[in-house]
Amino acid sequence: MHFLRCFAALLLTFALSPSTIAQPSPELQRRITAAIKNAANQSNPDYTAFVNPFIGTDNFGDVCPGASIPFGMAKFSTDLTGYAPAGYITDPNEKIRGISPLHDSGTGSSLGTYGNFEIMPLLCPNGFNTCTTTLAARQRFRKPNTDDASPGYFSQTLDNNIKMEATATRRAGLERFTFPVGSKPYFVLDLANDLPNSFAGGTLDIDPGKGRITIGGLWGSSFGPGRFNYKAFACYDLLDGGKQKLSEYGVWTGDTVGLDAKGLGQTHLNLTLNLIGGVYQSGALFSYDINPPAQPNYIIRVGVSFRSIDQACANAETEVGSSSFEDIHEKAKALWQEKLSKVEIDIGNTPANVTEMLYSSLYRASLTPNNATGETQGLFESTSSFYFDSLYCSWDTYRTFYPLLALHSPVEFAQIVDSYIDGWRKNGWMPECRANNLPGWTQGGSSADNIVSHFAVNYHNEAESLGINLDDLYSALLADGELNPPEWNIQGRQVNVYKQYGYVPFAVLDVSSTGRQTREGSRTLEYAFEDFGIRQVAQLLGKTDDVAKYTNRSLFFRNVWDPTVVSDGFRGFSQKRYSNGTFAFNNPVDCSPNDRNSSRACSLQGTNVNGFYESSSWEYSWFAPHDTAHLIELMGGNDTFVKRLDHFFNADYYLAGNEPSFQTPIGYHYANHPAKSVDRVREVVFTNFDITPAGLPGNDDQAAMASLLSFHLLGLYPVPSTTQFLVLSPFTPQYTIHNSFLNVSTTVTALNYDAKSIQKTIPPGTAAYVQNITINGVPAPSRCHFDFYDVFRVGGDVVITLTADKAAADDCQGMLPESISTGGFATAR
Ligand SMILES: *[C@@H]1O[C@H](CO)[C@@H](O)[C@H](O)[C@H]1NC(C)=O
Ligand SMILES: *[C@@H]1O[C@H](CO)[C@@H](O)[C@H](O)[C@H]1NC(C)=O
Ligand SMILES: *[C@@H]1O[C@H](CO)[C@@H](O)[C@H](O)[C@H]1NC(C)=O
Ligand SMILES: *[C@@H]1O[C@H](CO)[C@@H](O)[C@H](O)[C@H]1NC(C)=O
Ligand SMILES: *[C@@H]1O[C@H](CO)[C@@H](O)[C@H](O)[C@H]1NC(C)=O
Ligand SMILES: *[C@@H]1O[C@H](CO)[C@@H](O)[C@H](O)[C@H]1NC(C)=O
Ligand SMILES: *[C@@H]1O[C@H](CO)[C@@H](O)[C@H](O)[C@H]1NC(C)=O
Ligand SMILES: *[C@@H]1O[C@H](CO)[C@@H](O)[C@H](O)[C@H]1NC(C)=O
Ligand SMILES: *[C@@H]1O[C@H](CO)[C@@H](O)[C@H](O)[C@H]1NC(C)=O
Ligand SMILES: *[C@@H]1O[C@H](CO)[C@@H](O)[C@H](O)[C@H]1NC(C)=O
Repeated sequence: MHFLRCFAALLLTFALSPSTIAQPSPELQRRITAAIKNAANQSNPDYTAFVNPFIGTDNFGDVCPGASIPFGMAKFSTDLTGYAPAGYITDPNEKIRGISPLHDSGTGSSLGTYGNFEIMPLLCPNGFNTCTTTLAARQRFRKPNTDDASPGYFSQTLDNNIKMEATATRRAGLERFTFPVGSKPYFVLDLANDLPNSFAGGTLDIDPGKGRITIGGLWGSSFGPGRFNYKAFACYDLLDGGKQKLSEYGVWTGDTVGLDAKGLGQTHLNLTLNLIGGVYQSGALFSYDINPPAQPNYIIRVGVSFRSIDQACANAETEVGSSSFEDIHEKAKALWQEKLSKVEIDIGNTPANVTEMLYSSLYRASLTPNNATGETQGLFESTSSFYFDSLYCSWDTYRTFYPLLALHSPVEFAQIVDSYIDGWRKNGWMPECRANNLPGWTQGGSSADNIVSHFAVNYHNEAESLGINLDDLYSALLADGELNPPEWNIQGRQVNVYKQYGYVPFAVLDVSSTGRQTREGSRTLEYAFEDFGIRQVAQLLGKTDDVAKYTNRSLFFRNVWDPTVVSDGFRGFSQKRYSNGTFAFNNPVDCSPNDRNSSRACSLQGTNVNGFYESSSWEYSWFAPHDTAHLIELMGGNDTFVKRLDHFFNADYYLAGNEPSFQTPIGYHYANHPAKSVDRVREVVFTNFDITPAGLPGNDDQAAMASLLSFHLLGLYPVPSTTQFLVLSPFTPQYTIHNSFLNVSTTVTALNYDAKSIQKTIPPGTAAYVQNITINGVPAPSRCHFDFYDVFRVGGDVVITLTADKAAADDCQGMLPESISTGGFATAR
């Protein structure tokens, strides 16, 4: 999800250009550049040294650069003022409110997400009663250009020279604070302010003997119905195993209109939801005796839990115990190294920027979703399944995020699939956008269908040993496909009317379910592709009747195709449609970057009337990944299709940062022009991505963008819910994918690779186009695509021979990628 239109509006209010906002320490880029250079000849490099966690922390990338382990539930980051849904942003005009242990990365939440239990170090030269405890009073600018982070580590220094650092385990971590010499350290801990301002009551207790503060309460969703609340708890251990001594402690309350009260020596707060509205600010305040000079830092251990205070404390004890900051950091780093080394490249011969973009992307592609196994609440309280928080949202992640996981990490993928299936077991439908442990808004319907089906078609032989029961998986799919939920805005889809009409009609009478009556065009397109996912599993399991039925339903995308609409000279566009069959015309340009009406609603708003979600009809009309051959027919044949694709990009309808556009640059493959896809992907990458904080074209969308970029750089595109990869030209001369579950490694070599081709426009005469492919010495049947079962499941050597002869390579030689209407996807592998 991402809020396109509201971003366009927000952008206008920021005067600073991204280039003036380079907050991470310049030392960070020097360190990464040096590490990449030095790794050229190393056989086992430290991949964590190539990661720049700040990519995507500007330009609304909404990436969390905080300290985390892979899929960590805890992500320690500072929280800043302004629009900062992941806590941190680079903008030096924004102030730091504190550092806190719970965050999401890459969500486009308009409210911000998590940020509970902020702690802020203070200097209170005039003592306890003068400390700046309220949000407005305590926030401070950073010391310019000192922000730093690496996998498992985060640091930021305030303009008063207090340095804050953090490192993490799955549900806990250590914070380390360095104060200017001789200053007495004060800390304010916030009970009531999370980023979305959603506090709904909670308690805080100080145990001065133990040096422990426990805190917990109820908060609301960052992207879902405001009526639901989730529980969260934290346990702050203040004494560093007895090495630090508390001086003063107490509680405080405050507001923005004069309340600023402190209770020295008081130890308990119990606040309920403020029914009249507004947030009641409150929390704890404490100070330390100044440490001896040999011990300049103050260490605070933090545990979090979604279940209870006791569990938050137990998490800190079991995961951190008495380990040092360095020990925890080393452990986190080792976990990251294990994840990042699943993809190896020829570092010495790859442009350094490509290496940095790739490993930073792979890093983010294992940062979320947040592993909250054992931390369940509500309907999931007593589940024995794995549990992941922040499936935020499946509409974003099914296209590239899970296919990337499928490439090298089936164990992790299976655990997340288990959590999706468990969602069906407990809720009746699989989650679409679980946010803050609560159901968030659905976007295209039940995109989980394309996630679990992708798992099934790629790993059905191993499903059982990976802990997945395919019958349950199939039942979950059928529930999404057949059962109309009472409220399809939070789960499932409006299948009653979709089945009846063959599309989701606009302005239809629905007497049995509710939801926001918008996005009929894009919901139909996504429902149809979800049905394709179900069809793929039906085929796998030999459910012949269901194969026929869901194949038919997967073609419902055709039912919203209005062949009469013309835009920029091109004929035929997807449109919303009344139940009587008449199309309800909307200009295909509406909600595209060429829409000059900046007040048009294009997202989830009830006033979004254009029929599409966060997209124009120009953009969504390309969407039928399972039957592009038929789209080509609808659009008037190969030549028109190619001209229309060119126009789409050249006339700026393409939105690199929007998920429905992900596959479009490779659309040329289907019209038999694979070399044009190669050109287009080079252009897309170098126009929209780089190694700066502004280096993403919008929200990372829980690493949807990161995983798309990873595939672009590897010269692959995965067709979701299938085992097919479209093949392009790698940005690196050689890479190896290790699949440690299948115990295979696959090395792909790009023969004739020329680093000169790694730029926006491939210079004429440069080898960059795919001439042919051999897989373990055998010529591959197509140079446009290959199959997971023939390549990455088998392991061995793949050689992609590149040529400078673009014209000769611009042809799939009779082996186009598959489409349903041309007999594709006819058998399960
Ligand atoms: C790597 O090895 C090559 C050839 O063996 C050498 O030319 C190059 O300088 C080495 N690079 C580094 C960074 O050591
Ligand atoms: C907080 O106060 C409410 C009543 O307002 C009471 O029911 C609850 O038990 C108290 N909780 C704690 C932890 O003190
Ligand atoms: C999630 O946490 C559980 C419990 O610690 C662990 O068994 C599992 O391997 C973790 N999975 C991932 C993907 O981090
Ligand atoms: C599929 O659609 C075709 C043509 O619309 C129809 O004849 C056939 O009965 C349908 N099959 C199923 C199983 O729905
Ligand atoms: C279908 O319904 C729409 C909206 O009520 C109306 O404008 C249109 O004329 C109808 N079409 C037919 C063929 O009746
Ligand atoms: C712009 O869009 C808004 C909201 O849909 C609409 O009310 C308004 O009439 C549009 N303005 C123009 C000039 O089309
Ligand atoms: C497009 O080109 C391919 C390959 O040459 C051909 O098989 C296909 O029939 C063409 N499609 C159309 C709609 O002409
Ligand atoms: C690497 O990226 C930086 C930041 O985007 C850019 O300034 C530089 O030109 C790039 N270098 C190369 C060799 O592409
Ligand atoms: C992979 O190797 C491990 C360790 O040797 C073994 O336990 C496991 O069964 C193997 N997995 C497969 C799919 O062969
Ligand atoms: C691939 O192309 C190269 C260069 O034209 C050629 O030498 C080689 O024999 C081809 N390989 C196959 C398997 O066709």
